[in-house]
Amino acid sequence: MLFDEASRALTAGVRRWAGIPVETHEVAALAADLVAMVDGFATAGPRHWRARKARKRREAWLAALVRQVRDNELGTPQGAALDVVARHRDADGELLDPHTAAVELLNVIRPTVAVCWFVAYAGHALHRWPQHREPLRAGGDFAVAFAHELRRFYPFAPFLGGRATHDLTWQGEHVPEGSLVLLDLYGQNHDSRLWTDPYRFDPQRFVDREIGAWDLVPQGAGDPHTGHRCPGEPFTVALLAELSTRLAGLDHDVPDQDLTISLSRIPARPRSGFRLIPATARQT
Ligand code: HEM
Repeated sequence: MLFDEASRALTAGVRRWAGIPVETHEVAALAADLVAMVDGFATAGPRHWRARKARKRREAWLAALVRQVRDNELGTPQGAALDVVARHRDADGELLDPHTAAVELLNVIRPTVAVCWFVAYAGHALHRWPQHREPLRAGGDFAVAFAHELRRFYPFAPFLGGRATHDLTWQGEHVPEGSLVLLDLYGQNHDSRLWTDPYRFDPQRFVDREIGAWDLVPQGAGDPHTGHRCPGEPFTVALLAELSTRLAGLDHDVPDQDLTISLSRIPARPRSGFRLIPATARQT
């Protein structure tokens, strides 16, 4: 299943980048926990409880690793995320408490693995619109445009919420202190005033287009330094462009399966997780 395979590939990559010691045979379990945390962020019931358990387990594990780094018991590469966070000192010169350090590490490795949702969408898009396969194989600007169109077109998080910290007026609208304000990510990404023929999947719309800070909002809007915008967006785009290019170059079959995407499931994903059979596994 592409969704699962992508989650493992991303986990294997980010654990190496972050200097977190995880044996190859432990990657699948870590990937499953990270996916569970993302999958349960906006829901009640079993998915939510799975997410809480996974988060507790991984926070304790990472906090123990932070202590080991400080005691020089781990050969973590200098400058890797685990080393930097473990040795970071706050404005008062104090080390972070190990739990906070663990949460900070999770805040980077968990969303990196969440990119697997978009990789599954990439499989879905290339299956539905195979004409993009050829230009995508060349990578470059088209691959970046393809990554942007995936993030615009497919649903992941439908909206972001925030509370007004004081009374304000925004574009003539009075917003009283304490109101819940929603930014409709999916609606904005399909608004015909911004996107011609918004329900058409067309990566070409992003070739040679300057993207304004308030236009494309799958990961929040505005300035990441001051507002509700993801600081990991450039990494998301780079990972997606690279993995989509590789997918376009993979000779594979797509067996019959349920490829519907329910908009009432948050985060949404193709129901089947997108199963594919690489040519190397084809039966002769
Ligand atoms: C599936 C891809 C991703 C999506 C849809 C996504 C979405 C978002 C959104 C909407 C926010 C803003 C939340 C708010 O302020 O209300 C956010 C924050 C954040 N994202 Fe991402 N993100 C993704 C990938 C990444 C990656 C790859 C990284 C890091 C490598 C990352 C790191 C972060 C961090 C650290 C924050 C918190 C920033 C803060 O509050 O100061 N994200 N993300």
